[in-house]
Amino acid sequence: MLHIKPLKLTSFFSVNAVLTAALLCIFATAGADTDNIKYFRQEPIFPIPQVVLVNIKKAELGEKLFTDTRLSKNNQVSCASCHQLKSGGDDNLPLGLSLSAEQNIVNTPTIFNSQFNFRQNWDGSAKTLAEQIDGVIHSQDEFNTDWDSILYVLAKDKELSTEFYNVFNNGITRQNIIDALVEYEKTLITPNSPFDRYLKNEENSLTEEEIRGYLTFKELGCISCHQGINIGGNLYQKFGVFYNYIAERGNIKKADYGRMNITDRYVDAFVFKVPTLRNIAVTAPYLHDGSAETIEEAISIMGKTQLGRNLTIEEIRLLKSFLYTLTGEYNNTSLDEKP
Ligand code: HEC
Ligand code: HEC
Repeated sequence: MLHIKPLKLTSFFSVNAVLTAALLCIFATAGADTDNIKYFRQEPIFPIPQVVLVNIKKAELGEKLFTDTRLSKNNQVSCASCHQLKSGGDDNLPLGLSLSAEQNIVNTPTIFNSQFNFRQNWDGSAKTLAEQIDGVIHSQDEFNTDWDSILYVLAKDKELSTEFYNVFNNGITRQNIIDALVEYEKTLITPNSPFDRYLKNEENSLTEEEIRGYLTFKELGCISCHQGINIGGNLYQKFGVFYNYIAERGNIKKADYGRMNITDRYVDAFVFKVPTLRNIAVTAPYLHDGSAETIEEAISIMGKTQLGRNLTIEEIRLLKSFLYTLTGEYNNTSLDEKP
């Protein structure tokens, strides 16, 4: 079931709702209105809002489609097969399922909070969530099909067809399927992580050690790439600024070239969208190739490749303690509470 709280006018008077309204305002004005952020600590990271405005009817349809295997070739998978909401919004595999090969070409990123990314996919190949879905339909690794086949199958479902007509005046169409899925994806947010509560000045949200971890994250320079509302997701960077991890790993594949596959420019070789670090505690393994099994490994690789440093065990421990404060709640349940 969906638990989306629509903003009610009466609740605007509670402090929380004011904060939320202020934050929604910040999105709308791209941070221009500095008055609205006075409630938060002045940090380069922003909290996830408590609510986002969605059309609930569309989102409910989208929720159904999210688990509907009829969208994929031979009914093999649904979005939920790879983006499992109970395990961090990904699949916990180095490289996930593929409909046409032994495994997918890249690690499955979390679907949570993806609306806050400036582009979608590791290489930023999709500008919007809508474009991303179109990619899923046609990708040989994902749904491996086309819209005509999907519309043909879904048209036979009279009940679904009626439900679509209740929401859209032209029933089941490509655009309406995308619309509904995007609206549902907007509900996949994870507010209330301990770190976000710290940003909102909530007392005792972090331990002293976790705060030291955050200071280390800033002092070393991780923050120069991982910042903003998603602690990532707002710029492209080369993977291997100081050290070519991919060459060292060997067996270089097409997907390793990242943005170069999109732009055809050699300067974009090994350039990726900086990934979000939200909920990172529950989304192992890491990196676009899934080659880092543990968070310690990922942190150590980042030190070497992105900052030219061999991080000490103490630094890695502190950074990990900070990263573990980034686990938020979905439907009021922390993502690290296993069912
Ligand atoms: C077979 C596994 C699989 C299925 C099915 C699948 N995905 Fe994904 N998803 C992935 C992988 C792998 C990526 C990364 C692709 C890339 O970077 O090129 C991804 C990326 C994404 C992203 C971008 C996240 C980011 O941080 O860049 C979103 C959003 C997303 N998927 C949503 C969906 C939706 C919605 C569906 C269903 C319509 C879906 N996915 C179906 C595996 C899957
Ligand atoms: C110069 C930019 C830059 C800096 C600095 C940087 N990162 Fe990253 N980070 C990236 C990029 C790009 C990736 C994606 C690499 C890939 O797999 O292709 C990444 C990936 C990660 C991942 C894996 C995320 C996932 O979902 O797989 C973690 C964890 C991480 N970084 C933590 C850190 C920490 C901790 C620091 C500081 C020690 C740091 N990063 C510094 C750019 C940066």
